[in-house]
Amino acid sequence: MARTDHDTERRLRDEAARHGQTHLFRFWESLTADRRRALLEQIAEIDFEELSRLAETARRGESSEGVDRPFEPSPFVALEEGATSTLAADAVREGERALRAGRVAVLVVAGGQGTRLGFPGPKGTFPIGPISGKSLYQLHAEKILAIERRYRRPIRWYVLTSEATHEDSREFFEANRFFGLVPERVRFIEQGMLPAIDRQGRILLEAPDRVFRSPNGHGGVVDALRRSGALDEMRRDGVDLLFYFQVDNPLVRIADPSFIGHHLAGGAEMSLKIVRKVRPEEKVGVLVMREGQYRIVEYSELSAAESEERLPGGAIRFQAGNIAIHLFSRSFLERVAGDRDALPLHRATKKIPHVDEHGVPVEPSAPNGFKFERFVFDCLPLARGVVAIEVARADEFSPVKNATGSESPETSKADLMALHRRWLAAAGARLPEPANRLRIEISPLFALDADELREKLRANEIPVTDGMHLESR
Ligand code: UTP
Repeated sequence: MARTDHDTERRLRDEAARHGQTHLFRFWESLTADRRRALLEQIAEIDFEELSRLAETARRGESSEGVDRPFEPSPFVALEEGATSTLAADAVREGERALRAGRVAVLVVAGGQGTRLGFPGPKGTFPIGPISGKSLYQLHAEKILAIERRYRRPIRWYVLTSEATHEDSREFFEANRFFGLVPERVRFIEQGMLPAIDRQGRILLEAPDRVFRSPNGHGGVVDALRRSGALDEMRRDGVDLLFYFQVDNPLVRIADPSFIGHHLAGGAEMSLKIVRKVRPEEKVGVLVMREGQYRIVEYSELSAAESEERLPGGAIRFQAGNIAIHLFSRSFLERVAGDRDALPLHRATKKIPHVDEHGVPVEPSAPNGFKFERFVFDCLPLARGVVAIEVARADEFSPVKNATGSESPETSKADLMALHRRWLAAAGARLPEPANRLRIEISPLFALDADELREKLRANEIPVTDGMHLESR
């Protein structure tokens, strides 16, 4: 090994020893020079101080960063108000103006491992179009293309990936010619990875020459935007708003003008869409206020009593469910990205595959350690202005999380078809009976929303049939 490698090795060995992590070098003697170098690179990225702190918190049995009590339900712009008031019409106009002025970029977070879905490949490549079989990535891409055409402005699209999804996502876009988008305007930015520890605080090795690492959570996007130069690029291009969504929601209304307008009118630094919870057991985090700051309490952190609490009229008290659709002001992201400790690390107890002291792989059958993640919604308390607007769940949110049952491809496809049936009905189309069973899909390139569909159908008499995919422009 070269001299610098030896120096690095010595320094990292010392650092590991200081933090009780000498076992990272346990298999050193058996490794080739290349493998040693690869291992050193991974060890060099570890923040030992931080991990020691996290291990100590876990050892003391303290919960990882949660929301302190007491908190109150948060205010939000209710659906009726958000969609029909004069404020609403103004919001749409304002949002459209921002889109026409090229002030808006789009970001999808697609770095997760999609463990629950168990699909081989990035979730974005999952075929979700109920008739077309189009992938999640393609549906999002076509929406962006349609928005570019509608507002006659190019839009930058940032795709957050991780080691788990980066290469495959990029290849998928290339193989599909970026679904008609201009490739230079689509940028894949890779998020960071974090090691995991066992219950004694020891960093786990996945193989004799490899530290176990997993993506650092969707909150990792803030640092990834800074490191990749995306924030600088946005600034250079005069983009001051970033629309954020998750890859697994085919119903998302990307860069929705009304949302943008409400954000601007409210002078917000971060905005979010919420849906009203109707059942206590719904698995969405809820938006609350604590000491004048907005925060999200994860569903797992809400006590049964808190989830079930009702208002006098019968509505759920903590009802503002977070659906992970946000709008950020760029200057706010720059501020958050400037402080590497701005977003806390959350701990999750997991089954973590690793090698034992003899280098033998172990697939634990019960949780054996902790992974760490940052959450994007932890930006909320840092924002100087927040706007939360209510939307109808059936119109905007139906994520693909599980292989079967709730939040699965089956429910998501059904919700997409139901949405498109409602658009058709609202446009006055005659639907063949039984209308509620009609299988139909509308391409974003045919119509982005109910209003555009109405316009299209006014101009053309299109007979609607079962199994139809309305696609051409
Ligand atoms: P989820 O928490 O639902 O994770 O992510 P997931 O990877 O899709 O699925 P499971 O939990 O492993 O089954 C919500 C969104 O955040 C992104 C995901 O890609 C998804 O769009 N995400 C999550 C990231 O981009 N990076 C992460 O580190 C975690």
